Amino acid sequence: MENTHKRLAVLVSGSGTNLQAIIDAIKDRSLPNTEIAIVISNKQDAYALKRAENNDIPSIFLDPKQYKSKEEYDQKLKAIIKEQNIDLIVLAGYIRILTQSFIQAFDKDKIINIHPALLPKYGGKGMYGNNVHKAVLENNEKESGCTIHYVTHEVDAGPIIAHEKVPVYENDTIESLSKRIRVKEHKLLVKAINTVLPKPIIRAK
Ligand code: GRF
Repeated sequence: MENTHKRLAVLVSGSGTNLQAIIDAIKDRSLPNTEIAIVISNKQDAYALKRAENNDIPSIFLDPKQYKSKEEYDQKLKAIIKEQNIDLIVLAGYIRILTQSFIQAFDKDKIINIHPALLPKYGGKGMYGNNVHKAVLENNEKESGCTIHYVTHEVDAGPIIAHEKVPVYENDTIESLSKRIRVKEHKLLVKAINTVLPKPIIRAK
């Protein structure tokens, strides 16, 4: 019988509010038959690790300093994830760029990322965190938002799964804009995970 229970690996680097949104959605069953098998962080002080601990979710701090190269680091990351029999890898505020060999080791619909802007605008190398909101404000954009996309060899340029817009106001600061977007991110991420996870096939009797 097909296994209907889905296992996520969530990669994080920061506060983990998106991780929390997934945890909450699993609890309130808006993300049914799903569990977070592992949370992996490249930052020891990421509050996301604390959130995992608070919710009895296995977590690992994988220290980049312990590895000679990005290749070696991602080899280890890959080994941990493969061991866990994961259905979907979610980059939820993970700031490292994954190596090509890591990305190629998984099917093309197995890694998704959340980005705090309306891709393809404001994406790519260096466009992460507050840099994104700063650039949006400097360009006097009237709207911004968030995007969930599949991860491919090109940073922030994989096929888009979903996006959500928010207005940008004249008096916005990086903080006010990022806060408005973050609220949307949480809902969109859960929705996107629900969309992309393989659904059980219901056979007629
Ligand atoms: C989010 O804005 C996400 O789009 C970006 O990094 C931020 C992570 O926030 N990739 P959090 O750690 O989930 O609170």
